[in-house]
Amino acid sequence: MTVVLPLPRAAEPLERVATPRRYLMCAPQHFEVSYAINPWMDVTRGADRDLALRQWETLRRTYLDLGHQVELIEPVPGLPDMVFAANGGLVIEGHALGARFTHAERRAEGPAYLRRLGSLDLKTVSEPVHVNEGEGDFLVVGELVLAGTGFRTDPGAHTEVQELFGIPVVSLQLVDPRFYHLDTALAVLDDRNVAYYPDAFSPGSRAVLQRLFPDAVLASEADATVLGLNAVSDGRHVVLPSAAAGLAAQLRERGYEPVGVDLGELLKAGGSVKCCTLEVRA
Ligand code: ARG
Repeated sequence: MTVVLPLPRAAEPLERVATPRRYLMCAPQHFEVSYAINPWMDVTRGADRDLALRQWETLRRTYLDLGHQVELIEPVPGLPDMVFAANGGLVIEGHALGARFTHAERRAEGPAYLRRLGSLDLKTVSEPVHVNEGEGDFLVVGELVLAGTGFRTDPGAHTEVQELFGIPVVSLQLVDPRFYHLDTALAVLDDRNVAYYPDAFSPGSRAVLQRLFPDAVLASEADATVLGLNAVSDGRHVVLPSAAAGLAAQLRERGYEPVGVDLGELLKAGGSVKCCTLEVRA
């Protein structure tokens, strides 16, 4: 006789496991706010480049101290937003897709990043057909790619990514211009969990997120508006803007280890931790 025991309710694992990552970053050597292509950017405000460099260096150090590998790309004069490496491409299982930027001001970053990706030990590097701003709008969660559209990345690029990588792509509609890239509204915590700010999404996309991630961490407006969701996780440590104190507490409650970093100068261009970080997935 077989005794069927009731399945224990799956408990949230208390021990979150970090896996070593490989990142690509670009020093803010030529950082400034000289044009405005998102609501965070105010050309009259001025940004302190030396402070930006110091803050960025702290982020790089943080990754190295956590045991991750950091590759660099040479900053190009005249491309002040090049520090936001996440926008430079998408790399999954050793295959890379280059970026194609929405705004003329950033267009030259596409080929620069493509060249750098080509110099890494990747299996293939493809030029993009449709407008896509790399990991700004494409976030990998386990066997899925979440893809943002509404402000930057063309929905045609969502299909392009699905065809190129053979991974299901879920399109999500962004509706608040402050959260113009998916990585400003949603953070991947590990292969199954995300955190997001519901109001950044259309009702339909909110419903999709609710179905896919019923246990997601929901961020407050206060944490979202300091770009708290612009975070990078290794499965255990979640590197995020230090101002997002509420989100850090929520993450700690779920067994993650929040690591706060101040990137206040880069926030003046509408970017933070995740924007500065492109993950190179082997
Ligand atoms: N100033 C840049 C832009 O508007 C910021 C990009 C931030 N990057 C990101 N992955 N969200 O394009």
